[in-house]
Amino acid sequence: MKVVVIGSGYVGLVTGACLSDFGLNVTCVDVDKEKIAMLKRGEIPIYEPGLKEIVEKNQKAGRLFFEVKGDEPISEADVVFLAVGTPPKDDGSAEMKYIFSAVETFSKNHKKYQVLVTKSTVPVGTGERIEEIVAQEHSKETFSVASNPEFLREGCAVSDFMNPDRIVIGCNDQKGLKVLLDLYEPMRKANAPILVTDRTSAELIKYASNAFLAVKISFINEMSRLAEKAKADISKIALGMGMDKRIGPSFLLPGPGYGGSCFPKDTKALLKIASDFGVPLRIVESSVIANEEQAKFAVEKIVKNLPKNCENPTIAILGLAFKGGTDDVRESPSLKICKDLMEKGFKLKCYDPEASVNALKEIESLNVVPSIMDACKDSDIVVIATEWNEFKTIDLKAVKEVMATPVIVDLRNLLDREKAIEEGFKYDSIGKVFE
Ligand code: UGA
Repeated sequence: MKVVVIGSGYVGLVTGACLSDFGLNVTCVDVDKEKIAMLKRGEIPIYEPGLKEIVEKNQKAGRLFFEVKGDEPISEADVVFLAVGTPPKDDGSAEMKYIFSAVETFSKNHKKYQVLVTKSTVPVGTGERIEEIVAQEHSKETFSVASNPEFLREGCAVSDFMNPDRIVIGCNDQKGLKVLLDLYEPMRKANAPILVTDRTSAELIKYASNAFLAVKISFINEMSRLAEKAKADISKIALGMGMDKRIGPSFLLPGPGYGGSCFPKDTKALLKIASDFGVPLRIVESSVIANEEQAKFAVEKIVKNLPKNCENPTIAILGLAFKGGTDDVRESPSLKICKDLMEKGFKLKCYDPEASVNALKEIESLNVVPSIMDACKDSDIVVIATEWNEFKTIDLKAVKEVMATPVIVDLRNLLDREKAIEEGFKYDSIGKVFE
């Protein structure tokens, strides 16, 4: 089976590479010439563990290709995935111009029966619109339009693709459905649950899932603020809640708020979609507000913990990525915190194992340093803003020696409080007050 993936960003690239690993012939297409040139050389434009190896292996095996012009592979493909970006517009709705331009390219090269599949997160009803567009030029018998949303997390996208909780296929006709079931047959054999549904429900499953996870995070973040006031311990509360199978233990880690290219964008897009249908989504609305407040709450916590009679305090920020395991800083709570602190006139020294280059593209004047120790040297407070594994095993003794005053604000609850105090630090985290 021949597959084309239009859009070689994080979703398209991971999807294309992993499908080729299942033995399919895959061409990833992207208008970005530089990106395609890099990929042809075996260089990966994003930080994603395991991706480089899979790309290399399948390129060598002659079943994974990268092209700027996709005309020929598109005309020969059995399945064409749309994995281009749908960035947010000012009103929160998804920008659809890249999707429709890719649909045009598909339509121009469409010569035999093909299945066109949306992988990108697209507003409800997009499948129908795509079908109408292609049907202006071609008979409806010659193509199917399906929705197959992705549920990959950055930082573990390859393993998420290989071991999915579910594969959702939204297709309104049996012919298209059969092609997609054949495509995913190797994964079904490897026990991946497949949910077959109609196209619109599949489109909405994606938004509903991301919005629900965002709600879960905002819920635990608000609960952590209450826990601090009530002198309770949020980690025990999350543990106790998560032991109830109906709630589940994951996505109950409090922090500086959710970020990334998905939750902030998708919650807002869902609100716009729902409002267009005249349906208010109060819970999602509140989760967006709570998330905005959480970054401000983190800044207040940092300022509150600054040593009292320190005139020009220096703040060390550990972690700039929106979460650990990625170089992505889109909607990163850490960067929001940095901006806020800089506006308040504080001097910062920031370190991130992978995201420094991207952070500097967002905030040019950010003071980025090359190591944890450089950030901590002469600082009055160290803030853990991203849950990188290397911060969990930080050498507290060495850090204390180089700091001006030993204060830690752990916004990801990564460190062992007792250990930090034993080493002589003043330690504050999220959702538990220590007095
Ligand atoms: C998210 C979803 O988890 C994926 O299933 C989905 O496919 C993806 O969006 C997408 O729509 O493309 P991702 O944005 O990579 O994946 O990141 P997550 O691991 O979900 O984390 C999102 C944010 O929530 C991060 O800022 C993270 O630090 C925060 N988070 C997560 C918490 O604050 N607490 C938690 O318990 C979990």
